[in-house]
Amino acid sequence: MLRERFASPRPAPSTAEHDPSVAAVEAPAAPPRPVVPEAPALPPALVQVKERVHRQLIEELDQDRLGRLSPAEARAEVRRATHEIVEGYPLQGAGELRQALVEEIIDDVLGLGPLEPLLRDDSVSEIMVNGPDQVWVERNGRLQRSVQTFRDESHVMRVVERIVAPLGRRVDEASPMADARLPDGSRVNIVVPPASPSGAKITLRKFARQRLLSADLVRIGTLSEAAEAFLRGCVRAELNILVSGGTGTGKTTLLNVLSSYIDAHERIVTIEDPLELQLQQPHVVSLEARPPGLEGNRQISQRDLLRNALRMRPDRVIVGEVRGGEAFDMLQAMNTGHDGSISTVHANTPRDAVSRVENMVLMAGLDLPDHAIREQIASAIQLIVQVSRLPDGSRRVSHITEVAGMEGQMITLQDLFVMVVDGEDAEGRLTSTLMPTGLQPRFIERFERVGVPFPADALRVDRVHGGAW
Ligand SMILES: Nc1ncnc2c1ncn2[C@@H]1O[C@H](COP(=O)(O)OP(=O)(O)O)[C@@H](O)[C@H]1O
Ligand SMILES: [Mg+2]
Repeated sequence: MLRERFASPRPAPSTAEHDPSVAAVEAPAAPPRPVVPEAPALPPALVQVKERVHRQLIEELDQDRLGRLSPAEARAEVRRATHEIVEGYPLQGAGELRQALVEEIIDDVLGLGPLEPLLRDDSVSEIMVNGPDQVWVERNGRLQRSVQTFRDESHVMRVVERIVAPLGRRVDEASPMADARLPDGSRVNIVVPPASPSGAKITLRKFARQRLLSADLVRIGTLSEAAEAFLRGCVRAELNILVSGGTGTGKTTLLNVLSSYIDAHERIVTIEDPLELQLQQPHVVSLEARPPGLEGNRQISQRDLLRNALRMRPDRVIVGEVRGGEAFDMLQAMNTGHDGSISTVHANTPRDAVSRVENMVLMAGLDLPDHAIREQIASAIQLIVQVSRLPDGSRRVSHITEVAGMEGQMITLQDLFVMVVDGEDAEGRLTSTLMPTGLQPRFIERFERVGVPFPADALRVDRVHGGAW
């Protein structure tokens, strides 16, 4: 019964087998398994044609003129010129292949080459280039090797330059690491030699055009219905909540979902670096930090923004991710009546989250004794929601934990829900239950105070065991 109830419907199986752009090869995150060689996207004969057409095209195109056209006009112009050149080649009956060839050339001349089809593919969330013929993608939480390849290392470097040039930056031996953002909001990390001796590496996190919503998280098993109801109540009751998780575990996604529970009449001020949240409420002000030194501009820190946000009459302050000294200002704000704040922190357990915040407060450079910092944390934050990535690639809420207070020098944590992995389904995906521990949170009185019904049913252990579902 328990299994049935919680073995929630899994996302549709990967469509890799039906998708010509990606071979159905799966690999664990690390270390990558040796991979079966793949068929190239274009037949070898066409690859040669492509290279010749490409060279000819570069000679014929007037780059200066192209630069003055709008992207759509430039694309049309390159398409016309490419078709003209391709016409000169005897490609028997290859209508579709000819079209594919033309598109690949256009992507190369105007865009990020082999990355373009992956950027257009909405089922791809991350793209990783380990080498010219080692392009990996993440699709539905699984790593797969893509059939997209670069011609050689210099082709990869050309794409790297395309990415950073519009930002007025260079990536080279003198400065071999860079973070960049594509115009569509996707984030890119680049490492080249000598920092990466074997060649350029690109890691691209696509901007999620459509964030997962609350119902999606329940459907794919990240949250149980009971946990969703519980968290919805906690947001409504204006608890201060910290979402904790490792890189890419789904912190921002969950923050977005928790924020969606906020009432439409509240004024929400968000602080992010960079902007990622997609809040649907009518009354949202979004502030974005700016890194130092870009085109000589002064840095705008999250701390500056947070201080300013507090003067903007917020009902809620949402900080995308606390990373430094702003943690101190955030705690202070929470302790002085700015309730209902939600934020994320990079940590692997709720306990780790607490010590991360403690360290960040130290970064604010105030001379506070440890005990005072811990007391601030214990009285400011009521709830930690931990997200974790399981070995099968799925992302789930693993703990919902109350920050209960202090005992001596220690902050006391009390788990309210804990994820228990109970098996594996036919497709090799782990099944799990987000079990209430049966403990009553101390913040229950707060619900009464703000007039929000306490979601007591969500915490009932017997409902999980008793088959009442
Ligand atoms: N619960 C989830 N189930 C499946 N995929 C998710 C889930 N949460 C996030 N993702 C996907 O994982 C990637 C990273 O999510 P994000 O929320 O940005 O993580 P983080 O903020 O922890 O780095 C995104 O592509 C996102 O769409
Ligand atoms: Mg994030």
